[in-house]
Amino acid sequence: MKLFIDDANLEAIKEINEYYPVDGVTTNPSILAKAKRDPRETLKAIREIIGEDKIIFAQAVDLTYEGMLKDAHMIIDLLGKNTIVKIPSTPVGFKAMMALKKEGIPTCGTVVYTPMQAYLAAKAGASYVAPYVNRIDNMGYDGVEIVKKIQNILDNNGMECEVLAASFKNSQQVLELAEYGVGGATCSADVIKAFVKNLAIDGAVQDFVNDFEALTGKTAMSALGE
Ligand code: G3P
Repeated sequence: MKLFIDDANLEAIKEINEYYPVDGVTTNPSILAKAKRDPRETLKAIREIIGEDKIIFAQAVDLTYEGMLKDAHMIIDLLGKNTIVKIPSTPVGFKAMMALKKEGIPTCGTVVYTPMQAYLAAKAGASYVAPYVNRIDNMGYDGVEIVKKIQNILDNNGMECEVLAASFKNSQQVLELAEYGVGGATCSADVIKAFVKNLAIDGAVQDFVNDFEALTGKTAMSALGE
């Protein structure tokens, strides 16, 4: 399962990109709004941090077909290769996905609340579909189960489209989808940092150092010398 940072906080992205095995960064207009600066600057700064080999997702904001295409072209011009344009999974969005597919611009069908949206986005040529796990939970349905259903639909139809599960509030939701083998998950910096925040882990790691120091007076193997 690929793992992405769903955030536009540059400091947090820097830290997570350095310490965690992430595949890139996803954004949406609401996430970019939190950075309180020109969204183009934020996106370019994210691209600089992660480099050109990792993936960045940026969303077309215009709700018209022509506007979606214009936004998509601008996003690709701004961010270069390994950029995926998020397009809402609506009828207008499906039309834009089909056109962008013909142009060779990869898209992600986003704002997915139902398996039918995901099926149609994948059929329209989207490379990813992004179901909103926690938001689905909050509507009274089971977000994780809906993502599994979407993964089955893609697999059973041989669709060349990956799941990019989004909107997580805890690591259990993420892990259950990793166990199932969904294509990818994207989580806020706070959710990622909580993945291995655990006093038992910290204590065990420190115990090893303490025991070594009690034996040798040193806190590193290399400090023992030749
Ligand atoms: O990118 C969409 C997704 O991340 C939404 O997350 O936390 O706003 O439900 P959230």
